Formats: sequence, C-alpha cells, structure tokens
Amino acid sequence: MRIDIISCVPALLDSFFAHSILKRAQEGKYVEVVVHDLRDYSGNKHRSIDDYAFGGGAGMVLQIEPIARCIRTLQAEREYDEVIYLTPDGELMEQKMVNQLSLKGNLIMLCGHYKGVDQRVRDIFITKEISIGDYVLSGGEIAAAVLADSVIRLLPGVLNDETSALTDSFQDNLLAPPVYSRPSDFEGHGIPEILVSGHEAKIEAWRYEQSIKRTKERRPDLLK
Ligand code: 6GU
Repeated sequence: MRIDIISCVPALLDSFFAHSILKRAQEGKYVEVVVHDLRDYSGNKHRSIDDYAFGGGAGMVLQIEPIARCIRTLQAEREYDEVIYLTPDGELMEQKMVNQLSLKGNLIMLCGHYKGVDQRVRDIFITKEISIGDYVLSGGEIAAAVLADSVIRLLPGVLNDETSALTDSFQDNLLAPPVYSRPSDFEGHGIPEILVSGHEAKIEAWRYEQSIKRTKERRPDLLK
C-alpha cells in the first residue's frame, strides 16, 4: 500500500510516522507513506495556498489550483483507489470502513484547514469524505494520522501477532476484554485466577464473556 498525504502543515505528520509500529511498517515495506507540502504546489513565490471566501464571512479557504496540481501530479504517477478528504462533515469513521480501506492499494489523503477547501475540489477530485468524530479539530492532519494508523496496522505482516488485530475492540462489534501482566499481585490487587489456570478453552470463554459484559455496560449500542 502507498499513502500520499497532502497537507499545508506537513511537519505535524512527520514525527507521527517515524516511530513504533508505523515506522516498522514502512521499514518492512508493508506501506509507503509520503507527505506532501501543499505550498510546494502554490505556483507563486509567496507559496500562498489560501484566499478569502467569495461572498464574505470569516476564515480562509484552501484554493483549488495548488490542490489540483498536487493531486494531478500524483495521479500521473500511479492509479489511486481513493482520494480521501478529511473533514468534520464527512462520513463517520468506524472499524468497518477502516477494514475496507486496508484492502486498497494506493490512497491519497487531503487534509483540510481553516474554513476548508474550495467546494470544487470536493466535486472534482474527492472520492470519499471522512470525519473521525463529532468534534472539530483545527486541521485534518490529526484525522489523517488517525485514519492512516488504523489502516496500516491491519496490513498483513505489520503486527507481530497476526491474530492481534482480529481480537481488537470493534472487530465483531465487541469491546476487547481486560488484560493483565506481571506481577500477579500488586499491593493486594490480584488477577482473575482463570488466566493462570493453563486451561485455554476456559480462558477463551472467560474472555468472550468479559467482552460481552464490557460491551453491554459501556457500549450497548454496539450489540444492536
Ligand atoms: Cl477530518 N477534520 C477536522 N478539522 N476536524 C474534525 C475531523 C476532521 N474529524 C472530526 N473533526
């Protein structure tokens, strides 16, 4: 998979992809992440990429020309499965959407800023609009990082333990069960005995039971 992220604040994304699982995923060639500075496509020496909104009102708008140049440059190099715009008025991100995106080959993610992008960008170039939740961020970079992270960790080979993505919360519409590690006694706080019983089938059954219990208590909406 290749993910191209278009941003007017690329530095926000650099360190995010340089550590831990996302770093290993790139080193292992499971994914290539390329961040593009929208200002490189401004076409003017001031590197400006935004302007006032026609009709007035507060806030600047990301202009269509730099974005068009950047997307067209990328599309001339390879085919893209989706051109995603991260925006609070997009489709709400959830695990099923992430699973589907993880099966794609090449993705473009465009980060919004200020009052957003010229509507014609969305009409002409964007194939999918995604929001990461019902709250507003100051830019789409964090949302792109969230989306890219959730997709990349699903790519085969990225996680050490192949089963660990399958037992995540939200796969199966269930929250994950509690987990414990050493010490088995912390200041009098113990662990469920079953987990040290060595009885695999019973442990599996206990975990499933705990998942149901947790989901009922915390997210009954998922059980519908
Ligand atoms: Cl994708 N962008 C911004 N700016 N705010 C958001 C969002 C995206 N998703 C939720 N809030």
